[in-house]
Amino acid sequence: MSDFPQKTADRPESVTGPDPLDEAAINAAVEHALDAIAAAATLDELKAARLAHTGEKSPLSLANREIGRLPKADKAAAGKLMGVSRGRVNKALAARTEVLEAEDAARILVEETVDVTAAPRRRRAGARHPLSTLQDRVSDIFVGMGWEIAEGPELESEWFNFDALNFKPDHPAREMQDTFFVEPPEAHLVLRTHTSPVQVRSLLERELPVYVLCPGKVFRTDELDATHTPVFHQFEGLAIDKGLSMADLKGTLERFARQMFGDGAGIRLRPNYFPFTEPSAELDIWHPGAKGGPRWIEWGGCGMVNPNVLRAAGVDPDVYSGFAFGMGIERTLMFRNEVVDMRDMIEGDVRFSEHFGMEI
Ligand code: PHE
Repeated sequence: MSDFPQKTADRPESVTGPDPLDEAAINAAVEHALDAIAAAATLDELKAARLAHTGEKSPLSLANREIGRLPKADKAAAGKLMGVSRGRVNKALAARTEVLEAEDAARILVEETVDVTAAPRRRRAGARHPLSTLQDRVSDIFVGMGWEIAEGPELESEWFNFDALNFKPDHPAREMQDTFFVEPPEAHLVLRTHTSPVQVRSLLERELPVYVLCPGKVFRTDELDATHTPVFHQFEGLAIDKGLSMADLKGTLERFARQMFGDGAGIRLRPNYFPFTEPSAELDIWHPGAKGGPRWIEWGGCGMVNPNVLRAAGVDPDVYSGFAFGMGIERTLMFRNEVVDMRDMIEGDVRFSEHFGMEI
């Protein structure tokens, strides 16, 4: 074997890199690498260029590997050429990396800039609707007296809404102008027109004695205006026990009135008629803090539960007696908290609810 073989003659077939002694070829590979490095516009592109030009299969790496195969005499020259060439490429890579990293950092700084002078987007805190708050307050007062809260369905059977409450079949309240009847007619369903059907439901479901308060939604075919709405709320009270009299009704309502309107409040009962109470009364409240000065305000209905209602619920009227009352929550909110237009209560504008706060 000659000590000075032809430079290319004994290179293995598989080798595709340039000859490590071929300065022109090596320089061309370096120039090629430098062009790719300069052209890399992003760190990702630079990574691809680094792999292509300094990776294991890059022309310069392949040429470098050839040094081992060279005759001793050529190794130094080839080593030096390759060292210098690879050094140029690595230096260019380092410089380009620095430039691109700086660009990247500058871009991120701009993209993630926080404008501390910009007006913040404020999200309004919501507020409880005053009807809910008032309903809770009424419930709390009765729970405080040992009563329970009862509920009934808003879609009610005509029997509970009317018949069981001693409404005769031709009672005007059943007529179309008051009641939302629900189809089909043979189902005998209505949207309850008052919370009184819960009286009968409570008596059927509970053990005696019964002391319940039922707040809830009711429906009547009224046009919406400042003082009417087809959907509104009532609370119903029912007390059935042995030996209850009108005096218990009066005492309960008086206590309730004072808790709602202050110690100066009082109540007054005026004779009235409801099919489900006998005797029946209209309840007026003496409102000491009324706008424009203290005065009597009509508040709701009440009375001693009609024996026919007790019988419909399977309660013996010779043993048990009791009283019931019912008031509108919207109406109460109007004169208690000086709301002049009922429509404000249903529009859902948070500005209306906000000024009542969480306590009412
Ligand atoms: N349910 C009656 C109404 O809606 C009010 C009421 C309740 C009257 C209980 C007497 C007893 O007008």
